[in-house]
Amino acid sequence: MSSEKSIYRLKQAIMRRIPDIRVLSALDDMYRLMAMPFGWVTYLITTRVLRRPYFGVWLASAQGNPLRHPLIAEAVVKCAKARRAEGLDGEFRALEIGAYAGASTIEFATALRTAQIAPYLMYSVDPWDAYLDAINNPRIHYRMMNRDLANGNVLRLFVRNIRAAMVSDVCRQIRGRSEEMLPLLQGQQFDFVYVDGDHAPAAVTRDLNEAQRLLRPGGYLCGDDLEMQLHELDPEFVTKHADEDVALDPQSGRIFHPGVAIAVEQFFGRPVSSYQGFWVVRWTGEKYEDVVLSLNGVA
Ligand SMILES: C[S@@+](CC[C@H](N)C(=O)[O-])C[C@H]1O[C@@H](n2cnc3c(N)ncnc32)[C@H](O)[C@@H]1O
Repeated sequence: MSSEKSIYRLKQAIMRRIPDIRVLSALDDMYRLMAMPFGWVTYLITTRVLRRPYFGVWLASAQGNPLRHPLIAEAVVKCAKARRAEGLDGEFRALEIGAYAGASTIEFATALRTAQIAPYLMYSVDPWDAYLDAINNPRIHYRMMNRDLANGNVLRLFVRNIRAAMVSDVCRQIRGRSEEMLPLLQGQQFDFVYVDGDHAPAAVTRDLNEAQRLLRPGGYLCGDDLEMQLHELDPEFVTKHADEDVALDPQSGRIFHPGVAIAVEQFFGRPVSSYQGFWVVRWTGEKYEDVVLSLNGVA
């Protein structure tokens, strides 16, 4: 994971110097293609020899910003401890929308285990199938993700990863699109919901509405990829790029996810507490409150 963080930081430094999304995308695709043979060897050694979870360039299994991991771990433990302090019985139930190869799944599950929160269950909803719209997202990287989701390689790695991390006993997979699967969860409540599925604005809004229905008062609602919030951006620019997975803000030179920025601000009607793109709020039963995280291990 530390090499993942170093590569991420290096990429951030390069991005700041090249304020053109097409050049950055081409460079990133080139890097991924060149790193592929090394990624494959590392994947084989990690999964077959060391029998450890693998997240790297192979199958694009390292998704998102690795600096968020300590934050999502802190958030889930904070939520579980608050529940314990409320004296609530029964298992702590966490739900994730969008699991890919299991990086966030494992982060949540191991954080809960380390904090000795028991019993708990971690549900992951994901179709593990091609979902990225190739017209608005024509990059090689996205085409490869779609291919490896459609041929089952990503799901196989997810299963292998949660077994290697020794959390498969507490993980439950719900295979299907959130818009089809979540409405089936009637009469169920979750303590913690993490939204990281399809990033198109309508899809994020739909997931947030379902998450709210499933969240118990006192529970946390959170998600990924909120690098910039709508009030920091030019609304016209964001609307123009709404259907693209990522865009580069011409004013700050920062990369952000337009769909997430639009949907989150529209849903909450205000900016929310966010750290390294990971955002988190607490549902009181009447309103959402910000959640303060320590940022330990992130700087
Ligand atoms: C950015 S990845 C998730 C990354 C993961 N949380 C991690 O930390 O590595 C997005 C995931 O959302 C899933 N997805 C796409 N559309 C979805 C939908 N309609 N419902 C649920 N999941 C969806 C994709 O299959 C993909 O695995």
